[in-house]
Amino acid sequence: MPASPILSAALSRIAADVDAMFDAMLPVPDDARARLIEAMRYAAIGGGKRLRPLLLTATAELHGVDFSTALRAGVAIEAIHVYSLIHDDLPCMDDDDMRHGKPTLHKAFDEATAVLAGDALHAFAFEVIADPDLFPDPFTRAELVLALGNAAGMNGMAGGQMMDIVAEGECFDLRTVTRLQQLKTGALLGAAVEMGAILGRLPPEGRTHLRGYARDIGLAFQIADDLLDHEGDETAAGKALRKDEAAGKQTFVSLLGPERARQQATMLVDQAIAHLAHHGQEADLLRALARYVVERDR
Ligand code: IPE
Ligand code: IPE
Ligand code: MG
Ligand code: MG
Ligand code: MG
Repeated sequence: MPASPILSAALSRIAADVDAMFDAMLPVPDDARARLIEAMRYAAIGGGKRLRPLLLTATAELHGVDFSTALRAGVAIEAIHVYSLIHDDLPCMDDDDMRHGKPTLHKAFDEATAVLAGDALHAFAFEVIADPDLFPDPFTRAELVLALGNAAGMNGMAGGQMMDIVAEGECFDLRTVTRLQQLKTGALLGAAVEMGAILGRLPPEGRTHLRGYARDIGLAFQIADDLLDHEGDETAAGKALRKDEAAGKQTFVSLLGPERARQQATMLVDQAIAHLAHHGQEADLLRALARYVVERDR
């Protein structure tokens, strides 16, 4: 389904801006590290939908933050996401050959380079948000680092990835699968919104509705990813599909069936949008993003 005009424009813009910033921040050195940086660029430039940077910049913009500042933080969170995909695709994890319509990093380079490129992108993210030249306020830097660290580590993405692997051999119930998804995917999407709120200097008690919005779209997003895996088009998705069932993975689709999973995702999107009720049309981009999360074909 085509995205709304406001969202289409925002998606194109963020994709170009994120590409340009990765290009500028990852110059290939004239020494033996060149292969590492070339690999980082291969995975980071010209890739995904850039949903996390868009969530971050849209939330920041809602609170008066200038776009170029928000974009730097957006590139940091996207670096974490790209690293997570590089490692997720490795033979020891999902063993995938295609990502973003081209060979995965370990196929285009080799496994050792893919591990290192993931490691270096992980570190790069924190180098960016801890850089006083980019974010002069020390409190803001510390808050950004904490939010991103929480979302990436054992209480976030890495923890969720572990649960995802364990799920292959277990019979998780709906509660446990929900927790798995919240950590694996929801945490980083939540951090995107949280980091936008941090840049906007919203006090934690003023972030409740944004956290509610992020939690709901995070879950809806992963249900949509599972539905795409079940019934999506591989060319549009740019990656191999029909893998979860073959691997015996417990997902919302395996537990609820596609019909109820779709209903659940739609209900979550409505709920996410309801959290923005006290905002006017300045939050229309966040509303459109919430809908796109479940209507996307890639
Ligand atoms: C895919 O995320 C991996 C999951 C977290 C489920 P995205 O759909 O956001 O990945 P991009 O757009 O290809 O980068
Ligand atoms: C990957 O989830 C999530 C992370 C990288 C944290 P999936 O394994 O479902 O993602 P795809 O389907 O390969 O994009
Ligand atoms: Mg995986
Ligand atoms: Mg995968
Ligand atoms: Mg998937």
